[in-house]
Amino acid sequence: MILTALPRAGVLQLTLAVIKPDAAAHPLIVEHPGHKASRHMQALHQKILENNFIIVRKKDLMWRRNDSERFYAEHKGRFFYQRLVEFMSSGPMRAYILAREDAVVRWRELMGPTKVYRARYTSPKSIRAVYGLTDTRNTTHGSDSEESAKREIAFFFPGFSVQQWLEKEEPFLRAGHVEYDPEKQIHTPLRQS
Ligand code: RTP
Ligand code: MG
Repeated sequence: MILTALPRAGVLQLTLAVIKPDAAAHPLIVEHPGHKASRHMQALHQKILENNFIIVRKKDLMWRRNDSERFYAEHKGRFFYQRLVEFMSSGPMRAYILAREDAVVRWRELMGPTKVYRARYTSPKSIRAVYGLTDTRNTTHGSDSEESAKREIAFFFPGFSVQQWLEKEEPFLRAGHVEYDPEKQIHTPLRQS
C-alpha cells in the first residue's frame, strides 16, 4: 500500500517527536489488527500520517527517572522540573523520528503552544489544545531546532545515524519512493530494482 508517493520539493528534515504518558497511557484502548494502543495514541499516529510526515522510526518505551532527569537537564531548577521528570517516567511513551520539509517547525506547529490553555485559545485544533491536560501533561514533545533534533534522536535511537539517513534514505523518500507499512506502522523507502 503506497500512501506517500508524492515527490517533495525540498530536502527533508528530521525531528524527534514524543507522545508523552498522559496520551500513551490513556486508559481507553483500541485494537487494530496486530496492534493495541490507547485511543489517544492511535489518534495522534493518524494525525502524523494525515499531516504528511514520513515515519522514519517508531519506538514504544518507558523511562526510568534517571532518563527523565538526563533528558530535561536544561530545566533543572525550574519550578516545574520535579513534576516534569516524575510525569515523564510515570508510564509508557512513544518516540518517533519524523521526516518532512521543515519537520521541526511543522511538528511544533501541529503540537501548538506548550501551555494547554493558551493552546486552546490560540490554536484550538492543535494537539495540545485537543488532548492536553495541564501545562506539564501536554501530550507531546518536539525538538526545538535541528541541533536539538540530532541530540534527541541520539538519546532515543542510539543506533540511528542522521548522516547515513541523509545520504542513503533521504533522496529516495524525497523522490516519493516510499511506502507505509501498516503492520510496522512506519514508512520504508521503496528501492527500485
Ligand atoms: P517540549 O520541550 O516538551 O516539546 O515542550 P516545549 O519546548 O514547548 O516546552 P519547554 O519549555 O521546553 O518545557 C518542557 C516541558 O516541561 C513541561 N512544563 N511544565 N508550567 C508548567 O507546569 C510547565 N512548563 C513546562 C511541559 O511538559 C513542557 O513540554
Ligand atoms: Mg522544549
